[in-house]
Amino acid sequence: MYWSKLGRVMLAPCGRRAVAACGFSWTAARSPRSVCVRNQRLTSVRSASQTTVDPDEVRRFQSLASKWWDEQGQFAALHAMNDLRVPFIRDHLLSVHTTRHPGKPLAGLKILDVGCGGGLLTEPLGRLGASVLGIDPVGDSIGTAQLHSSSDPDLRDRVCYRACTLEELSAEEEEEEEQGPGQFDAIVASEVVEHLANLETFACSCSLMLKPGGSLFITTMNKTSLSYVLAIIAAEQLLHIVPRGTHDWQKFISPEELERLLESNGFSVQSVQGMLYNPVSGAWSWANSTAINYALHAVKVRNDPPAEQAEESSSPSADAHS
Ligand SMILES: C[S@@+](CC[C@H](N)C(=O)[O-])C[C@H]1O[C@@H](n2cnc3c(N)ncnc32)[C@H](O)[C@@H]1O
Repeated sequence: MYWSKLGRVMLAPCGRRAVAACGFSWTAARSPRSVCVRNQRLTSVRSASQTTVDPDEVRRFQSLASKWWDEQGQFAALHAMNDLRVPFIRDHLLSVHTTRHPGKPLAGLKILDVGCGGGLLTEPLGRLGASVLGIDPVGDSIGTAQLHSSSDPDLRDRVCYRACTLEELSAEEEEEEEQGPGQFDAIVASEVVEHLANLETFACSCSLMLKPGGSLFITTMNKTSLSYVLAIIAAEQLLHIVPRGTHDWQKFISPEELERLLESNGFSVQSVQGMLYNPVSGAWSWANSTAINYALHAVKVRNDPPAEQAEESSSPSADAHS
């Protein structure tokens, strides 16, 4: 059952709904539809403005799609971040799920890596034993991720990629599993939410795709003056740690605002930890302050948000993040 459901998502035929499954190109699928409330049978047909996709972001990452695995290149800071984020995800999952596989502590868990890029985080999670589906709207990044993971026999049966968005995946889930619970034990969105056009759609789709009790892991940037100075002025314009234009400060979000958004979509935030990048050593460390970067762990506490919240979230005024 577990594996057959995973297989259906991972092996969905290419071209069905024009979304490549484990393919190399991304074609815009039908209008994303998201249903936040199953038990009230409330279906909200989302307009194009409620997609998470910002076309400028997709273009930007498209131009970088061949660079993911250059450890000294533009994604060096993401490679280094694995030293913090992989144990963060592993340890929180192990506090809930007991393991019977010493070398593969996450064996038996299904993880969705949203905005996986070239698979920098997808791969280590697969090596810990999880079955991981990495999705990203940039088809060429998915191509890079597939090519890279294919050289590791350990990952062949555990890691799969698709060029699609979260809302497309959750719409498929809705069609196939009317009224059923989500299918993933965990969703990971690392350094992704600051690139999305609509966070309400993201949070609602995460809730749909997770099993009750499932974990959501997010790393992102706080919306403070310090994050503007360090992430935009220093990292992009002075030190060139990441390409100029990578970040739009307006899309950064404070932990408090993210917590409110997640709680209105059926999550309970369990922990928020500050993270700090040292541009000289190229290493990340945990910090008491969340003023710049932070990692958040939330748990899906119920299947659906209350009806009135879902109605609000399907109204145009809920697109606060755009
Ligand atoms: C900074 S990269 C992070 C990549 C990866 N999570 C990592 O940490 O190595 C941001 C990623 O978000 C992806 N992205 C942009 N818009 C997205 C969307 N609407 N849904 C999912 N991913 C998106 C980009 O294509 C890019 O791969």
